Amino acid sequence: MSVFDKIESVRIDFLAEIESSADSSDDLEQIKNKFLGRKGIIAGLFDLMTNAKQKDKPLIGKSLNSLKLELRQLLDEKSKYFLNNTEKKYIDLTLPGKIPRIGSIHILEKTLTEVKNIFKTIGFSVAYGPDVDDDYHNFSALNIPEYHPARDMQDTFFIDKNIVLRTHTSNVQIHLMENENPPIRYIVPGRVFRNEAISYKSYCLFHQVEGIYINKKVSFSQLKGCLEYFIKQMFGHNKKMRFRPSYFPFTEPSAEVDMWDEERKEWMEILGCGMVDPNVLINVGYDPNIWHGYAFGMGIERMAMLKYKINDIRLFYNGDIRFLEQFS
Ligand code: DAH
Repeated sequence: MSVFDKIESVRIDFLAEIESSADSSDDLEQIKNKFLGRKGIIAGLFDLMTNAKQKDKPLIGKSLNSLKLELRQLLDEKSKYFLNNTEKKYIDLTLPGKIPRIGSIHILEKTLTEVKNIFKTIGFSVAYGPDVDDDYHNFSALNIPEYHPARDMQDTFFIDKNIVLRTHTSNVQIHLMENENPPIRYIVPGRVFRNEAISYKSYCLFHQVEGIYINKKVSFSQLKGCLEYFIKQMFGHNKKMRFRPSYFPFTEPSAEVDMWDEERKEWMEILGCGMVDPNVLINVGYDPNIWHGYAFGMGIERMAMLKYKINDIRLFYNGDIRFLEQFS
């Protein structure tokens, strides 16, 4: 048997041994000594070099060194494997358990629930409608004909010429009135979309709650009473609010409600409202000589910002756990 054959057979023995007889770090230590120890098998092979032919010596040396290297590597790998495995085998039952992370209701959802609950106590039902709607329901039926300058108040995302991402939840007023006979009393929560300049108080997506009440005798003072009640329930009796005359094509007269932003020391608009314009009633087939009504649309993000002292609307949407957890 040549020296090279001997080297190869040692290699095969080693592989067999590490495969079949190494069950622990102690076993590994023994195999290591047997093969790589000072008086081990590899050292023995080096001794054979003394008797080898001069011309073969460099090649034998090279083969032995690479064998040594290979065995060391295999031993290292196996020893790492044992280290990891022992960790798994022994479970320390005295260690404290991992606390699972429990999700929480998003602050917008929570605010929306508060709004819904307040309106439910004064007789409003909750309805929903489409986020993607036709031009007619989002604009024309609400007394905003094509080319009316009021369309510029709401920078619109168009799906195609006739289909839009709704710019307000007022579209559902129309669907509700088309489908039901008066009297009706609903609130309509939902998402709305606007291609607006983004700032601390405006985002391309936000939530509104629309309200619509139609009956035989409905007055502006009832509208005021309803919204004042809502705001007191929502924010407490001391929060400063004001009604301000305004304009919407679908209401006449119209108003907006602002609330005092204590952080920024300025008024923040939170809702628009008014008496439903007779043209809107005619569009849905209600007789404006018999039926009257009021409507309003409020921004949920802005209310949550005021109530929970959140200073930037974008925080609702960036999904930062540190923000969300503050409200759990
Ligand atoms: N749709 C209006 C907006 O998005 C808000 C609004 C104003 C809704 C007056 C109404 C209303 O129902 O009567 O700014």
